[in-house]
Amino acid sequence: MERSNISVKSKRTENSGLSQVDWDNLPFGKVFSDHMLVLDYENGEWGTPQIEPFSNLNLHPATSAIHYGQSIFEGLKAYRTVDNEVAIFRPDMNAKRFAESCKRMCMPEFPPELFETCVQAIVDFDRDWIPKKEGYSLYIRPFLFATDDYIGIKPSDNYKFIIFTCPVGAYYAEPLNVKIEEHFTRAAAGGVGRAKTAGNYAASLYPAKLGKEEGYHQLVWTDGKKHEYIEESGTMNIMFVIDGKLFTPAEDTDTILPGITKRSVIELAKDWGMEVEERKIKVDEVIEAINDGRLTEAFGAGTAATIAQIKMIGYKGKHYELPAVPEREFSNKVFHHLDAIKEGRIEDKFNWVVKV
Ligand code: PLP
Ligand code: COI
Repeated sequence: MERSNISVKSKRTENSGLSQVDWDNLPFGKVFSDHMLVLDYENGEWGTPQIEPFSNLNLHPATSAIHYGQSIFEGLKAYRTVDNEVAIFRPDMNAKRFAESCKRMCMPEFPPELFETCVQAIVDFDRDWIPKKEGYSLYIRPFLFATDDYIGIKPSDNYKFIIFTCPVGAYYAEPLNVKIEEHFTRAAAGGVGRAKTAGNYAASLYPAKLGKEEGYHQLVWTDGKKHEYIEESGTMNIMFVIDGKLFTPAEDTDTILPGITKRSVIELAKDWGMEVEERKIKVDEVIEAINDGRLTEAFGAGTAATIAQIKMIGYKGKHYELPAVPEREFSNKVFHHLDAIKEGRIEDKFNWVVKV
C-alpha cells in the first residue's frame, strides 16, 4: 500500500471479529476493529508502518512509559457518508496537535504527513468496521509511548506508535450535570495541560470520582492559581451562549487542550454571523449570566463527546439549572450541522473532511 511517498506494509487477520459485532449496541471504546497499525522509532528514525492483526503487546516490565508517563495520544473519527464513502474529520489538525504534544513531552516530533498517512491507511484497511447508522462512527486512537527498558529518568531513545480503531456510538447518553471545581487542578501554568498526554487524564480521575459521588457527570476545571477562571471540562472544551454571543476560554495558555471540535464550532458560528469571544472567562461572570437569564446555552465540545449539552452547573454547593435543551438554538443547530458535514449530507465548504 502506497500513500504519498510513504509505504505501509500489511498482514490481514484470519479471524475477523466483524460478524460478532452487535451494531445496535456499541458501548464507547469496548469494541475493537480487526487490525492495528504499528510503527517503531529506533536509532533516531521512524520505521515502516505495519498493519497487523489486533493483539496484545509484549512489554518489558521497565518500559519507561509505564513508570514515568512519556505517553501521548489523539482521538479522531471516521464516518460513513450517505453515499457510502468514508470521511475522516480534520486529521490534519490532529496531526499538528500530536506533533505539539511530542515536543512538550520531549518525544521525537511525529511527522504530520506520516500521521495522516497512517490514519488513512488503517481506516481504509478496516473500512468495513465503520458503522452505517446515523450518529455512529469509527473512533481512531493514535498513540505514542516511550519503550526504553531503563529505570533512570531521561527521555526515552525508543518509542512505539500504534493506531487502533473502535466502532462507537455516543460517549454521553444524556445532558450533563457538571460541577465547577474549586479545589483540585487539572493543569498548572507552565505544566502539560495543553498536551494530550496520559497523565493529565490520570490526574483528573480522583477529583472526577468525588464529583460523581455528589451526582455530577463531569467537572469543569478552573485555573490552578485561584480557581477563578473557567478552563475546560473532562474530555471536552466548554462553550456558552450569553446575550446571543458565543463564549469559550481562550486557548493561548498551556493549561487547556486546543480542541478541534471547539475550533470547528467557532468557525461555523463566525460563518453564520455570530459574535465569538475567546478570552479568559470568570466563573462569577457565568454565574451572574445564569442568574440574570442571559446565559441561554452551555455545552461541551469534543471528538468523543461531540456536542454535549450541560443541563445543570454546580458551584459552591448551589445547583444552577440551565434553559431546556430543546430550546437551545445555536448548539442544536451546530450539532446537526457538524454531523451533516461529516456524513456528507451538506457541502463541506471548509474542506474539513478527507475522503479515504
Ligand atoms: N479537552 C480535553 C481534555 C480532551 O480530552 C478533549 C478530547 O479530545 C477535548 C478537550 C476536545 O478536543 P477535540 O475536540 O479535539 O476532541
Ligand atoms: C476524545 O474526544 O478524543 C478524547 O480524547 C476523549 C477520550 C479521553 C475518550
